[in-house]
Amino acid sequence: MDTSDRNRLSVTLVDVAKGDEAEFVALAGQFGALLIRRKYGISELIRDEAHPLRFYSVRRWNDAAAAAACHADLEVQKLTARLYQLARVTHIVNGARPADPLRLMLDDQRARVEPDRRTGFDRRVSEQGRAEGDRREGHDRRLGPRRLQHRGGEIDLVAAARRARGYADAAFSHFKVGAALETADGLVVTGCNIENATLGLTMCAERIAMFKALSEGHRLFTRIAIVAETVAPTPPCGACRQILWEFGGNLEVQLANLEETIGTYQLKDLLPLPFDARLL
Ligand code: THU
Repeated sequence: MDTSDRNRLSVTLVDVAKGDEAEFVALAGQFGALLIRRKYGISELIRDEAHPLRFYSVRRWNDAAAAAACHADLEVQKLTARLYQLARVTHIVNGARPADPLRLMLDDQRARVEPDRRTGFDRRVSEQGRAEGDRREGHDRRLGPRRLQHRGGEIDLVAAARRARGYADAAFSHFKVGAALETADGLVVTGCNIENATLGLTMCAERIAMFKALSEGHRLFTRIAIVAETVAPTPPCGACRQILWEFGGNLEVQLANLEETIGTYQLKDLLPLPFDARLL
């Protein structure tokens, strides 16, 4: 792919109807995730600070063919149709920009991760009405995180969780846990359990990792590794499953000890029949 192709841009200026901003932002997020999943490119939404109802949608296509394929994609068209019900497109620019090596590196990483960026909430919605027989093992697009197992140059999440475990403060239980959470951008955010004299204020490694990540602006996650020094796997506690589900969706969960990875699960199997924002 030549450099000018890689930098093919579309900029759309959109004015959103008052009251519809939240839905618009959520749909734009789904749109961006679809662009990455289908390898069309990446999309960024910028809110105009001076006009709260005005957004700039910046899309960078992987190449001209990807842009064309994206426009022809029925799922994209469906999303765009809904977006256009909420927003008025006032100006569109197509063009190119000079290459930024750092940015391209990050984008390459994103393309490699190819995450299923939907939240658990979204996934549960699309799960409804699906017969058991419809789920073809290895062919289900919703199992994005699983594909990570096969990609080259994968981040060693378990090693990161083992390192994080070294910082655990488990003076009361002496049960040290480390966690490493992978973001859709391919970054790793770690956590360890922290206990204190009241015992009840203890915080698990998994929630620390998730809260750290959320507080640093990350919103899309692919996998989490959890490490303890046990022969049997140490699965996340109920509270952590809930938080991981609500903020991370159907994460791949790797359970490991200091020597090996003992098991790999999907969060939906660890938290069947979950409660989430859909039910409020
Ligand atoms: N713990 C975690 O950090 N994660 C888990 O998945 C299970 C339990 C911590 C909490 C507490 O500090 C210690 O392990 C014993 O329960």
